[in-house]
Amino acid sequence: PRLAVLVSGRGSNLQALLDAMASGALAAEVVGVFSDRPDAAALQRVGAPMRWSEDARAFPDRAEFDARLADAVQACHPDWVICAGYMRILGEAFIERFRGRLLNIHPSLLPKYRGLKTHARALAAGDSDHGASVHFVVPELDAGAVVAQVHIPVLAGDTPDTLAARLIPREHALLVAVVALATAGRLAERDDVVYCDGQPV
Ligand code: GRF
Repeated sequence: PRLAVLVSGRGSNLQALLDAMASGALAAEVVGVFSDRPDAAALQRVGAPMRWSEDARAFPDRAEFDARLADAVQACHPDWVICAGYMRILGEAFIERFRGRLLNIHPSLLPKYRGLKTHARALAAGDSDHGASVHFVVPELDAGAVVAQVHIPVLAGDTPDTLAARLIPREHALLVAVVALATAGRLAERDDVVYCDGQPV
């Protein structure tokens, strides 16, 4: 199976996917890495022929950037499109084009804390439990059906940074596990319900 991976920053989730492929834990191939930020460190994790980036901020509107991105992603014929630290909101046209094979990792226990600053918001709310979710992407932000989540405890003295640092290795494992299910053909979404091996999750 062919994966397109969308990134905006450091790319540690992308690296986890690449490492899992290299070790044989994940039978898939990254065929393209796409970014809205040409300076994203994540882009350096793959060879130049696999990279695509345009500065989204240089585009007059979201729809135009989205159309360009969608064409570039489509050109590599992915089976799955994985948002792995992709920080720009995807437009409806992009999402409809890849719907059902478009996954995102989000650093909160959805439906809590859609959007940004999830660690700070969990701390501010006094949560004792935090985590990350992998979900199918739908037009409403971070609102698609959740495939799986990982939980970590919030500890006394945690800051957004300590929480994020403790969560990130668990995010990596979660993302690899879900992508492994997806690429094995075991995962599907229909009418906002996730199916694993044909059974609703
Ligand atoms: C991760 O916490 C991801 O959940 C969030 O942004 C971070 C990206 O990290 N959306 P990286 O770029 O994969 O290292």
